[in-house]
Amino acid sequence: MIKVSPSILAADPLKMGAEVRRMTDAGCDWLHVDIMDAHFVPNLSFGPSLVKALKPVAGVPLDVHLMMDNPGQYIEAFIKNGADIVTIHAEIPEDTEALLKRIRLLGAMAGLSIKPGTAAEVIRPLLPLCDLVLVMTVEPGFGGQSFRADCADKVAALRQMGYKGLIEADGGVSLSNLPMLKEKGLDVAVMGTALYKSEHPKEDIDSVHAL
Ligand code: DX5
Ligand code: ZN
Repeated sequence: MIKVSPSILAADPLKMGAEVRRMTDAGCDWLHVDIMDAHFVPNLSFGPSLVKALKPVAGVPLDVHLMMDNPGQYIEAFIKNGADIVTIHAEIPEDTEALLKRIRLLGAMAGLSIKPGTAAEVIRPLLPLCDLVLVMTVEPGFGGQSFRADCADKVAALRQMGYKGLIEADGGVSLSNLPMLKEKGLDVAVMGTALYKSEHPKEDIDSVHAL
């Protein structure tokens, strides 16, 4: 069954508590929290204090996506505040191998994300350290972008490499492209706009679970 991880970047920031409950009441499996540092991506979003505020109300694992150049300085804060999955980017100017090990040591699941321009082959040596690989299906930085089908083949490529961990897709994911993504071996769907703009998120999440 494909897990659904709604991205709160698409939520109304003035009603964050209610927006989270809207998705958890609709049966989501995780909650995707996009952290942007206005450096690695041209946007600025949330910090560890939002994760701390979300933890007692979410009731589902917090799937924290660190779109930052220097996640090493913040990993501990995010995990101490309640992050269950912490995903860093393969493209950062830091020692990703050491960071993945540190995330696991601190008790969270270690995720590694690749942007559209990064081939799956690039992260092959790091796969044993990844509980999750996050395949970006848009250029990171903004919600509401169009799905990039050219990135979907990376899901199949990771499976062909023998990767048995979780694979998550992120960016423009919807019920229209999820059957193809499931076919290629996807486990988790990040859905921002597709769910937060939906009139019937529960039916949509049920449909994803039924794929
Ligand atoms: C983009 C973020 C995604 C985005 C998903 O940089 O990492 O998680 O919020 O939103 P949608 O589903 O609207 O593309
Ligand atoms: Zn994300």
